[in-house]
Amino acid sequence: MLNTTNETIELPILVKLGGSVITEKDKEFVAREETIRRLADEIASSQKPVIVVHGAGSFGHGVAAKYELSYGTREPHQFRMFSFLRTQMDELRLLVSRALFDVGLRPFPIQPSAIFITMNGEVFQFDDHALLHALRLGYTPVLHGDAVLDYAQGSSILSGDTIIQLLAKFLGLEKVIFVSDVEGIYDKDPKLHSDAELLRNLKLPDVMRLIKSDSVGGSTYKDVTRGMKGKLESILPILDAHCEVAIINGNRDGALYNVLIGADEHGTFISPR
Ligand code: ADP
Ligand code: IPE
Repeated sequence: MLNTTNETIELPILVKLGGSVITEKDKEFVAREETIRRLADEIASSQKPVIVVHGAGSFGHGVAAKYELSYGTREPHQFRMFSFLRTQMDELRLLVSRALFDVGLRPFPIQPSAIFITMNGEVFQFDDHALLHALRLGYTPVLHGDAVLDYAQGSSILSGDTIIQLLAKFLGLEKVIFVSDVEGIYDKDPKLHSDAELLRNLKLPDVMRLIKSDSVGGSTYKDVTRGMKGKLESILPILDAHCEVAIINGNRDGALYNVLIGADEHGTFISPR
C-alpha cells in the first residue's frame, strides 16, 4: 500500500514503454500506433494500477544528439531546438495518453519538464504534488523521458529510465517493468550477435557484474541515454530500494499483460536479493 499523507492506496506498478517499441527508432517522428494501442489494451486488461513512463525513441534521440541538448543550450539554434524537442515529446505523450483513454483507463498526462529541473544533468528539483494527488484520485499518471531545464547548463535530457528509478524509490514501489524491443538482457547484444543467450533470472550482484563487463551495450539506434547499459545503471538503485524488475519484449503479444498479472513467462526477471 502507498501511504500518501493520510490515505493508503494499492501500490501501482511502474511500466516503462521503451522508445524502441513505441516508435520506429530508425524513422524520425514515426510512432508505432498499433503497438501503442495493443500495449494500452494489455495494461487495461490486467486491471492493475500502473504509472506509465514512456521513452522518446525517434521523437527525441535524433534531435537531442544532433543539437547536443544533453550538454546544455548556449547557441540560439539550440534554444529553438530545445523547444522543438519539447513539443515533439508532447505529441508522443498525447498519442500514448489517448491510447490509454481509448481502452477505458483514466490517464493523467504529466509533462516531466514541468515537474523536474536538473543541475548539470542530475535531478535537482522534483515537484511531486500533482503526481501524488492524481494517484490518490485513481488516475494513471503518464510521464516520459524529456528535454528538461537545467539550472547550470540551460538544458539536459532526463531519460524515462531515470524517472522510473526516482519514482520507484520515492514511492517505495515493489515492481518495475521495462518494455523493450528485445526479450530481456542477454549475455551480449542480441541485435549484433545471433548466438546471444537470454539471462532469465538475475540478482543485484549479477547486475553489478554486467555493468562492469562489456556484454551489455548501448542501442543499435541513435540513443543519447545509452541503451541497455544506461537501463542497467538505472536498475541498480531500483533493486537497492527492494523493488523487483522485469525486462520484457513489447513486440511479443501478451507479454506485458502476463507480467502485470504475475505470470512471468518470457523475459529477464531481477530480484533485489
Ligand atoms: P528502450 O528504447 O526500450 O528503452 P534501448 O534502445 O535504450 O531500449 O535499449 C535496448 C537495446 O539495447 C536493444 O535494442 C539492444 O540492441 C541493446 N542491447 C545492448 N546490449 C544488450 C544486451 N546485452 N541485452 C539486451 N539488449 C542489449
Ligand atoms: C529519452 O528518454 C528522452 C529524450 C531523448 C528526449 P528515454 O531514454 O527514456 O527514451 P528511450 O526509451 O531510450 O527511447
